[in-house]
Amino acid sequence: MRYQLDAPIISHEQIADCEYEITVEAPEAARDARPGQFVQVLYDQSYNPFTRRPFSVYRVDLARGTFSIVYLARGVFTLGMRRKRAGEVLSIIGPLGNSYLQDARPDCQHLLVAGGVGAPPLYFLASEMVRNGMDPRRITVINGARSENLLVAVRELNALGVDLRLVTNDGSAGATGLVTDLLASEIQIPQTYTVVYTCGPTPMLRAVSDMCMSAGVPCQVSVETMMPCGIGVCMGCVVKIRDAGEPDGFAMLRSCYDGPVFSAEDILWE
Ligand SMILES: Cc1cc2nc3c(=O)[nH]c(=O)nc-3n(C[C@H](O)[C@H](O)[C@H](O)COP(=O)(O)OP(=O)(O)OC[C@H]3O[C@@H](n4cnc5c(N)ncnc54)[C@H](O)[C@@H]3O)c2cc1C
Ligand code: FES
Repeated sequence: MRYQLDAPIISHEQIADCEYEITVEAPEAARDARPGQFVQVLYDQSYNPFTRRPFSVYRVDLARGTFSIVYLARGVFTLGMRRKRAGEVLSIIGPLGNSYLQDARPDCQHLLVAGGVGAPPLYFLASEMVRNGMDPRRITVINGARSENLLVAVRELNALGVDLRLVTNDGSAGATGLVTDLLASEIQIPQTYTVVYTCGPTPMLRAVSDMCMSAGVPCQVSVETMMPCGIGVCMGCVVKIRDAGEPDGFAMLRSCYDGPVFSAEDILWE
C-alpha cells in the first residue's frame, strides 16, 4: 500500500560528514515498508526544487510508528533539505517500488554489498533478516565509501552482529580499495551457496553484477536512476531489461515501479 502524507519530522541529525538522518512519523508507511523500497520526498511546499527525489527506507521503528532515511547533502535538493527541523513536516509518497527477495534456502550465505549511501536499504535488509530469526553469522556485509566519514550504518550493523567488512578508497577505515576488491575473495570460490544483494553508485553496481555473473552467483541489484515522478507515470526512470519475448530482446522497465531491484543477469547496462 502506498501513502501520500505530510509526515511530522521527529528528529533530523547529522550522522557523519555531509550525511544526515531524518526520522518521520508515518505508522502505516513504516509498517508496510520492505527492504529496498523508497519514498519520494518533497521538503518545500512551494515546489522548489520542483520534482521529488527518491530516498531508500533505512530503518523502521514499528513501536513508535516511525521510519528514517539517510542522505548525503551534495546538491541543490539535499543541501536544501538540511534546513528542515524536528516539528516541521516532510511530504512523502511511499513506500514505493519492489523490494529485495530474501533467499529462503536455509544454507544460504547472504552477502550484502553497499557503496556510500547505498547502505541504507541494505541495513534495513540485514535488520529484517535478523528480526525474522536468521543467524547473523549467515549475513556478511561489505560496506564501502570513499573515506571513513562517509560510511553509513557502521555502528548499527555491528550491533546486529553480522560479519561486517569495511573498505575505504583512502584506507581510513577497514581495507584500502573498493568493495569489489573484498567481493572478489568472497565469491571466487564460494564455500556455500551465496546470494549477493547490492546498492550503490552505478559503476559499482555494474562491476558487482559482472563479477557475480562470472562466478555464477545470484545477485539482486537496486539501480539508481533519476525518478521524476516515482509512481510509474512519466517513464523518466526506465532501464533496459533482458526479455526474450520482445523483438529486440529487451524491454524498457520503470525502475520506480518494476524495480528498483532487478536481477543482475537481466540488466542491460547502457
Ligand atoms: C531508489 C533510489 C533510492 C535512493 N536512496 C538514496 C538514499 O537513501 N540516500 C541518498 O543520499 N540518496 C539516495 N538516492 C539518490 C538521491 O535520490 C539523489 O541522488 C539525490 O537526492 C539528488 O539530490 P541532490 O541534492 O544530490 O542533487 P540535485 O542537485 O537536486 O540534483 C542533481 C541533478 O540531477 C537532476 N535531478 C535529480 N533528480 C531529478 C528528478 N527527479 N527529475 C529531474 N531531474 C532530477 C537535477 O536537475 C540536477 O541536475 C536514491 C536514488 C534512488 C533511485
Ligand atoms: S519516475 Fe516516473 S515512471 Fe518512474
